[in-house]
Amino acid sequence: MEIKDQEKELLSLIDPDKLPVHIAIIMDGNGRWAQERDLPRQEGHRQGVETVREIVRYSSKMGIGALTLFAFSTENWKRPPGEVSFLMSLPEKYFKTELPELIRNNVKVNLVGDEEKLPRKVRRIIREGAEATAANSGMVLNFALSYGGRWEIIQAVNRIIEDAAAGKIKKVDDEIFSQYLCTANLPDPDLMIRTSGEYRISNFLLWQIAYCELVYTETYWPSFTTLDLLKAVHEFQQRKRRFGKI
Ligand code: IPE
Ligand code: IPE
Ligand code: MG
Repeated sequence: MEIKDQEKELLSLIDPDKLPVHIAIIMDGNGRWAQERDLPRQEGHRQGVETVREIVRYSSKMGIGALTLFAFSTENWKRPPGEVSFLMSLPEKYFKTELPELIRNNVKVNLVGDEEKLPRKVRRIIREGAEATAANSGMVLNFALSYGGRWEIIQAVNRIIEDAAAGKIKKVDDEIFSQYLCTANLPDPDLMIRTSGEYRISNFLLWQIAYCELVYTETYWPSFTTLDLLKAVHEFQQRKRRFGKI
């Protein structure tokens, strides 16, 4: 069956009223995608950006509320400097061509992660993207860069200590704690996808995935298509979410 026909068939099985409200994706496998083709790892990252374009467009058209993409982890700083600097050049490439379309599609861009660690240029590019799309009311697009779940929890605790010392808060509960996280004001992800056949979380959204549905695929991120996204959404809709109840 043609991909378009498979897509149509899947779309007919997906309930548009029960779409995940927040999808998180661990975009993994760029390096292996390239190695299998005898290409340098950076070709995998370059192709991975193309997948980002396609998945962002499709998700926003589909009516997904928020999409959080894990692009660079706090641990990825330990990679060889050449790879790190290549990865750091990608946001500019992406926003240069994509920003007008993001604005047009009513997408609201956001940076989540330890901004201080990022090169000034990367911060500026994403901040410009965030400012240009700040008034948009459609899909929220979070880029997780220099992001780690533990870093996020620790920075929340430190800010809470400061606010408590200043007398602004006395106690924290789930809701208040969530407000100190990078995803404040967003619902927790209800679907998390990891590509490349690795079955782990790798320090992504540790707090937020307490009740998230996890979908794993063998496909490397550069080969991930809108059809794979639909398959994940379909699988999500087949799950019985109990939240501890019966
Ligand atoms: C994901 O692909 C991109 C980042 C983590 C930055 P990888 O670069 O991890 O690719 P593999 O896992 O080595 O194939
Ligand atoms: C997770 O992928 C981080 C991102 C996709 C940005 P990694 O490739 O860094 O994860 P591990 O090292 O296989 O756990
Ligand atoms: Mg990897």
